[in-house]
Amino acid sequence: MEFRHLGRSGLMVSEISYGNWITHGSQVEEDAARQCVRAALDEGITTFDTADVYAGTKAEEVLGRALQGVRRESLEIFTKVYWPTGKGPNDRGLSRKHITESLHGSLRRLQTDYVDLYQAHRFDYETPLEETLRTFDDLVRQGKVLYIGVSEWTAEQIGRALKIADEMGLDRLVSNQPQYSMLWRVIEAEVVPLSEKEGVGQIVFSPIGQGVLTGKYLPGQPPPEGSRATDPSGGNFISRMLKDDVLTRVQELQPIAGDLGLSMAQLAVAWVLQNPNVSSAIVGASRPEQVRDNVKASGVKLDAEVLKKIDDVLGPVVERDPSKTVSPEKRP
Ligand SMILES: NC(=O)c1ccc[n+]([C@@H]2O[C@H](COP(=O)([O-])OP(=O)(O)OC[C@H]3O[C@@H](n4cnc5c(N)ncnc54)[C@H](OP(=O)(O)O)[C@@H]3O)[C@@H](O)[C@H]2O)c1
Repeated sequence: MEFRHLGRSGLMVSEISYGNWITHGSQVEEDAARQCVRAALDEGITTFDTADVYAGTKAEEVLGRALQGVRRESLEIFTKVYWPTGKGPNDRGLSRKHITESLHGSLRRLQTDYVDLYQAHRFDYETPLEETLRTFDDLVRQGKVLYIGVSEWTAEQIGRALKIADEMGLDRLVSNQPQYSMLWRVIEAEVVPLSEKEGVGQIVFSPIGQGVLTGKYLPGQPPPEGSRATDPSGGNFISRMLKDDVLTRVQELQPIAGDLGLSMAQLAVAWVLQNPNVSSAIVGASRPEQVRDNVKASGVKLDAEVLKKIDDVLGPVVERDPSKTVSPEKRP
């Protein structure tokens, strides 16, 4: 496993991290979840990503139990706040009250005194940015959070937050967590250039397109049994990528991966890691074998000719529109 700096910070993260959205506390049983975490640790993954909202807070509990007994200093634990964790009007968003309370819940569930990175899971139009950033800074001063980041913020929102932090002398954002894959490149036009200039690293999610880029979903065929597309919660999220024109072109990537001696999942993860602004690619897994497959993408170099072949194959199905980075106008 190779390691990278998280943005311009001093923190090192494994360039492949393990995330537990859809899986822990939901699609997979606790035993399988534990085996995936064990496989991740055995393969050299040190960075783990979760969120308060995953599986209605259960995902953090499962991860907390799975990491019990592992030396805390050998791990980087990331979680997030924004989406609802309860029914009340203050159980959501980025207010001082919800951020503070949600972090306390996350620390309890993860069985740790601090998280390495605390991320605003979307932009909250209903809270002044100064309030959010001051609260994050307070949690850093209290030692409960070591670094702060955001997820799916636009370049304009990230830039504004950095300006306020500088003016108010607050801790700066070190990371953004966007969706990024061969199929979804919306950060390249605006978020990446701003982030490179400002020392913000991308911790990218769904690098394998939720499984689509493994090539296991075939055009015109029902999804394979036990895959995310057949899961009641996961199915909704992946369905927008399961279009025949996308799946047909993905099949055409098979010879490119084969010539390089890579699995399709490895090619997908290696592809996002070619971008130097990416600090880490967060992979999900429903089985330990998937983790073992995916980690072999660490350290793989893809030359310009391979990158061009991939672009030629995927052509019009690649999404590049920066306006696709959106947060809800009203709190959910
Ligand atoms: N910040 C955000 O808003 C946000 C949003 C989404 C995700 N995330 C983070 O990013 C993490 C990863 O997201 P993701 O799970 O969508 O990423 P992904 O790595 O693109 O997809 C993971 C899924 O693909 C399938 N898969 C993975 N490796 C495979 C392999 N080698 N062979 C066959 N199938 C394979 C598995 O699903 P099946 O076996 O069930 O098919 C697995 O659960 C999440 O856990 C979370 O931490 C963040």
